[in-house]
Amino acid sequence: MTTDFWQARGNPFQGKNILILGGLGFLGSSLAIRLVGMGARVLLADAMIEEYGGNLFNIDPIKNDVQVNYCDIRDEHAMGQLVRGQHYVFHSAAQVCHLKSLSDPFPDIDINIRGTAVIMEALRQHNPEAKVIKLGSRGQYGSVLKLPAGEEAKPEPKGIYEISLLAAEHIIGSYCRNHGIQGVLTRLTNIYGPRAQMRHNRFGVANWFVRLAIEDRTIPVFGDGLIKRDFLYIDDCVEALLRLAVLPDACGQVFNVGHDQPSNFLELATTIVAVAGKGRYEHTPFSPERKAQEPGDFYTDITKIHQATGWRPETSLADGLRRTADFYRMFRERYW
Ligand SMILES: NC(=O)c1ccc[n+]([C@@H]2O[C@H](COP(=O)([O-])OP(=O)(O)OC[C@H]3O[C@@H](n4cnc5c(N)ncnc54)[C@H](O)[C@@H]3O)[C@@H](O)[C@H]2O)c1
Repeated sequence: MTTDFWQARGNPFQGKNILILGGLGFLGSSLAIRLVGMGARVLLADAMIEEYGGNLFNIDPIKNDVQVNYCDIRDEHAMGQLVRGQHYVFHSAAQVCHLKSLSDPFPDIDINIRGTAVIMEALRQHNPEAKVIKLGSRGQYGSVLKLPAGEEAKPEPKGIYEISLLAAEHIIGSYCRNHGIQGVLTRLTNIYGPRAQMRHNRFGVANWFVRLAIEDRTIPVFGDGLIKRDFLYIDDCVEALLRLAVLPDACGQVFNVGHDQPSNFLELATTIVAVAGKGRYEHTPFSPERKAQEPGDFYTDITKIHQATGWRPETSLADGLRRTADFYRMFRERYW
């Protein structure tokens, strides 16, 4: 299926200039590796902000094939320079920690909202022909009444992080409508896999559980562990983003990128212990803070992206977690 899609289009990224903002992070670097493999000329911009997911080792396989610019998306001059001549801009730079946004809302407001406006202004002034692909979050929906959550669900974002991503989406939408810039708006579910940060557990729960298992520690499963989530493996996510990037009809639209077969935290923990061959899990009561933040079951409806691009996830939870554990066992010292 994956091969068919690209064969039918030749190789649309061959020789194309691609800017990835947040390019040393989990999703940005994974996009970069795939795009270099498809013959694109890739430029990565990243501010390497402490505690976020930027890691130079993420691009080790392509370190001689990409350019890296250490800069901040809030820097108007830098963005004005970097967007010139780009065919595609993947916007993956953000404050990504929901918990942090509860105690300090300003990085979200500054980076996720203002930073997005800086990027869009740079595009309007210097390269309105480029196509921008925004990586947003399922968190923008908040708790939804009807599952799976389709794109038409009313967004009820809970925290400043989610509000800021929704605002960023609206800013891009406004530049699409008012200035004819082509923007594709994605809402991603919980993504896991190689190249995500592993130093702390404030975001990226599936990856954190993998670390606990590799260290032969106990994975805490809150409550009965039956809360549903649609965990998605990184390679499937990258494939979805690239398909949306080349789809002419995708511009100005919102697309869910998730899994159509939800699992739950208990299944996640037991699968990790099985594939890692180490660790154990234990049911733990929710702390009041966790309970207050827990949105309950969530999984996305991916009918829209499937109908538009033929995409659907191809990696099973067990396979994705096995590949994740293998990667971190091999490169542990680069991520711990
Ligand atoms: N990983 C997930 O499960 C997930 C789920 C939903 C949405 N997303 C979205 O995908 C995007 C990327 O997430 P990720 O998981 O790759 O996070 P990440 O932290 O691994 O990567 C983000 C990168 O952006 C960089 N960055 C942050 N602020 C910057 C700034 N002001 N200027 C330049 N660079 C900056 C960071 O240094 C980091 O390298 C985010 O927008 C996030 O909201 C991720």
